[in-house]
Amino acid sequence: MSAFDKSNEHLVRAEKTIPLGSQTFSKSRTQYPVGISPLFASKVEGPHLWDLDGNKYIDLVSSLASITLGYNDRGVNKAVSRQLSKAVGMSLPAVLEAEVSELLVELVPSAEMVRFGKNGTDATSAAIRLARAYTGRDHVLISGYFGWQDWSIGSTTRNKGVPEVVSSLTHKFEFNNLNSLSSLFSQLDSEVAAVILEPMNVVYPNKGYLEAVKELAHSNGALLIFDETITGFRFSTGGAQELFGVTPDLSTFGKGMANGYPISAVVGRKDVMMEMEEIFFSGTFGGELLSLAAAKHVIERHKNQNLARELAAIGEGLEVRTNQAIQDAGISELLSLSGHPTWTFLNWRSAPEFSVEEIKTYFMQLIFEKGLLLLGTHNVTLAHNEKIIRKISEIYFDVFEIMKDKIEKGTLRNELKVEPLKPLFRVR
Ligand SMILES: Cc1ncc(COP(=O)(O)O)c(C=O)c1O
Repeated sequence: MSAFDKSNEHLVRAEKTIPLGSQTFSKSRTQYPVGISPLFASKVEGPHLWDLDGNKYIDLVSSLASITLGYNDRGVNKAVSRQLSKAVGMSLPAVLEAEVSELLVELVPSAEMVRFGKNGTDATSAAIRLARAYTGRDHVLISGYFGWQDWSIGSTTRNKGVPEVVSSLTHKFEFNNLNSLSSLFSQLDSEVAAVILEPMNVVYPNKGYLEAVKELAHSNGALLIFDETITGFRFSTGGAQELFGVTPDLSTFGKGMANGYPISAVVGRKDVMMEMEEIFFSGTFGGELLSLAAAKHVIERHKNQNLARELAAIGEGLEVRTNQAIQDAGISELLSLSGHPTWTFLNWRSAPEFSVEEIKTYFMQLIFEKGLLLLGTHNVTLAHNEKIIRKISEIYFDVFEIMKDKIEKGTLRNELKVEPLKPLFRVR
């Protein structure tokens, strides 16, 4: 008997018909070691998730950062139900498409025109095609993660199935290192269509960095694209571009737009966006109305109530308490936090006797036992109220003490109930 019997049994069933047993890599057993992890969810509410075995967790994964208001938000549910009674999709576009576009144009500095997709990948890939069409160039310079399409995933070690001819057009540069970007421009001369980056992920951009990236891109005739799939409607109402005061030519939004509903957007300068009329970016469900209704409700709430400020305050509270727990347990050589308060990274390091995978796996084993679900980042939502934050920090106080003890005694490996996680392909 284990706390995860039903999850484990269901994995056997799911894998008979679904490769990896999951539609999403980051929700699969590649991230959650089988035997110590909840593998399937049965319900969610506010900040909580219940697994198939009935175990309840405080959920800091927040459906891969796509939840910002909390699960099952009443306002979103109402907006979606109202739309459901009218239509999900129709044979001609609905007015709602323009209503949400107008909101984005009003709130996002780079947005003069808008097109919608379903996943973040749709938006980033549309932006790349658009930049290639607009500039008549093929090469792209990238820093960050942009989804599963050939042009981006081909640059990682998980590039099976991507033609070399496609990968050869994508070049990685290092965030916060201007030389790494400028040397690519020197090598590629005038062949670069776009520079695409997450304006921030693990660390803040250095002062003047994003401005300099924009200047470099433009002086070389390339477009600047910010991927705001995560940062959008999380870092600030107008995204990281508003927070850092740098306006790109194009930007992409996704996860934060509609509290878990599948919608993404590519937005940008009118003259560039008009090229959309010449390229092909089109899908049956591009104007799907339940997600648009959810997006309208979420974005209006951001506009009227400055939710991003509230989210940041919650994230800061959690950061302070987590740092306190790290200090109290004396494990600051093992773990540090970085990133924005609304999307904070837990950076684990190896110990003399233990690998980082062993340490991370033991951490997961302990937090899952204590009812906390997280993968490596705090993706806070408005539902993570003061009481929940206090509970998380209590769990951290316990867990960090235990980890410190097992590391000092040299027994951490013996405590592991499963094989440690395998090093995964890195995208950031
Ligand atoms: C920054 C960024 N861009 C793009 C994507 C791809 O989005 P999706 O998984 O919705 O296709 C992700 C997903 O994690 C992301 O974090």
